[in-house]
Amino acid sequence: MSIQVYQVRGDIIELIFNPKEVDLHVGENLLIKEIRPTPRRGDGEEQREVKYRVGNTSGRGLIAQIIEFRTASYPSFIREQLLLALGDHSDPADRLFRYLADFPLADMDREMRNLNIAVAKIRKVAEPSGEGHLWDRWDGWIPTREVEITRVGHQELLANCVNDLGNRLHIGQTLDGGPFSIEGQALEKVNVITGVKGSGKSYLAKVLLLELIKQGAPCIVFDLNKEYIHLPPHEVGPDGRVKRGVIVLRAGEGGNLKMGVEEFGLEPLLTMLTKFGLPEVSALYFENRVFKLLEEAKQLRQNGRKVFIGLDHLIQMAEAGEFAENEVINNAIRSRLLAVKNTGVFASSPLEAVSIPKQYRKIRDGGALVIDISGLGNLARFGFVQSIVELIKGICEEEIAAGTGKFPFVFFEEAHLYVSRNTIGYIVTRSRHLGITSFFITNMISGLDEAVLRQMDNLFIMHLPYDDDVKHLGKSALIDQETLASFVKRLRNYHALVIGNVTRQYPIIIRVKELKGINTAGETKFFFQARLPQDQGRSEERPLPLEVG
Ligand SMILES: Nc1ncnc2c1ncn2[C@@H]1O[C@H](COP(=O)(O)OP(=O)(O)OP(=O)(O)O)[C@@H](O)[C@H]1O
Ligand SMILES: [Mg+2]
Repeated sequence: MSIQVYQVRGDIIELIFNPKEVDLHVGENLLIKEIRPTPRRGDGEEQREVKYRVGNTSGRGLIAQIIEFRTASYPSFIREQLLLALGDHSDPADRLFRYLADFPLADMDREMRNLNIAVAKIRKVAEPSGEGHLWDRWDGWIPTREVEITRVGHQELLANCVNDLGNRLHIGQTLDGGPFSIEGQALEKVNVITGVKGSGKSYLAKVLLLELIKQGAPCIVFDLNKEYIHLPPHEVGPDGRVKRGVIVLRAGEGGNLKMGVEEFGLEPLLTMLTKFGLPEVSALYFENRVFKLLEEAKQLRQNGRKVFIGLDHLIQMAEAGEFAENEVINNAIRSRLLAVKNTGVFASSPLEAVSIPKQYRKIRDGGALVIDISGLGNLARFGFVQSIVELIKGICEEEIAAGTGKFPFVFFEEAHLYVSRNTIGYIVTRSRHLGITSFFITNMISGLDEAVLRQMDNLFIMHLPYDDDVKHLGKSALIDQETLASFVKRLRNYHALVIGNVTRQYPIIIRVKELKGINTAGETKFFFQARLPQDQGRSEERPLPLEVG
């Protein structure tokens, strides 16, 4: 009997099927195609014995996506089907009964109980075009009862839901096992990757990151848990050949990412001082004086002088009472500057200072700067990341001015822990102007600002069992609540629901590909170590170079 239409209500179509014959999954797409009956010959009684030839179809069809399954409620189901069969000789009911009649009486009862109902949402109307179909918005049309129901293959799915401008990023497989790639341009601007703890968010982020690098995109990752530091390193061989990968910049005490006051920026420095408890009035005095200092430094540089302002200069100024006449203010500033110095992010000499724009140039044609912020305390992170975001903004402005368009793709793991709401708001609202693309990776869904949800271009959701989270995500308007709830609560391991520009707003479930031969593990510290032999397969493999250019 394969799959039969049971009923259509609104945009929901219910289908009866025998799970022993067809293996359907939530998220799968079905083509429900109208068949135009071709009477065999003759009239009257014979007319009912119509034969259908698939070749002779009206061609139109519906694309429906399975959102859940129900077992057929046995007595009511039989009654309805009997009524249908008696009432209008409708063919599906006929066929269902004929199908059941093929079983011996005892088995018929069992088979009947085995039937399931797939509840599917009608999403598109499909018009025949060449070998496949062109999907269009569903206008309410429904086929006659004479239909042929088949699975939508991944090629037809991709042809209708995924753009291809030649920048393909391969990120996994569709439910029917076919390769799933997205167009790089459709991934640009604002993306969210979310799901419950341990559902594979960071892994998907790494898959996207490595594909972006492969396609020559410059990326920047804020790595809170040392999760990205073991990805293949960015290397330039003696012959100048580049192996694209990641450059790890460690912030904090003992790290290799240190900056001078000028590069760090006044605003971020003020954020850091305020987080360390500098009162507002003192902050104002500090801002005034340092603003002038930075202007003087600019002047000197324009006159060909080499200038470097370290944190020690500012501490000496506080000690010399240069910020205010009031000693209390100078002392307040001095003590906070000492705290800032202890974070280890300031260079004491130009030799020690690292320039982010210079590092960016190294990965401008493909690669990533992984900024390891695990060594920074909570208070220091905000100012530090604000400083990097300002520098990224500067990089974007340079790219715009030069017309080169090598805009960065920036990954924020749990941004709410180190980026202020204002900065996040700024990034998402200005990203179209600046060219920057951001990925917000989080399991704290309620912490995702509505600004992000509204501006979001793509949403990648891994398993998400909680109603509150699903409701919050529903505000994005990328997907209806019903589909969202039904899909993300049922996602299997390593599967993701993808929706947005990358899927032309069609919800697609994929299995995220496995990164073979690449060390994706972070550096989680454990008290208990494994004492029993473990499967050593993947972790033993050597990292593969991404691409030799
Ligand atoms: N597609 C995949 N193929 C193989 N292994 C995967 C895949 N996705 C995730 N994993 C594994 O599942 C585990 C959890 O993944 P991951 O750390 O990405 O989850 P997470 O959602 O980021 O967790 P957290 O909320 O703790 O940050 C990891 O050990 C990872 O290697
Ligand atoms: Mg993670």
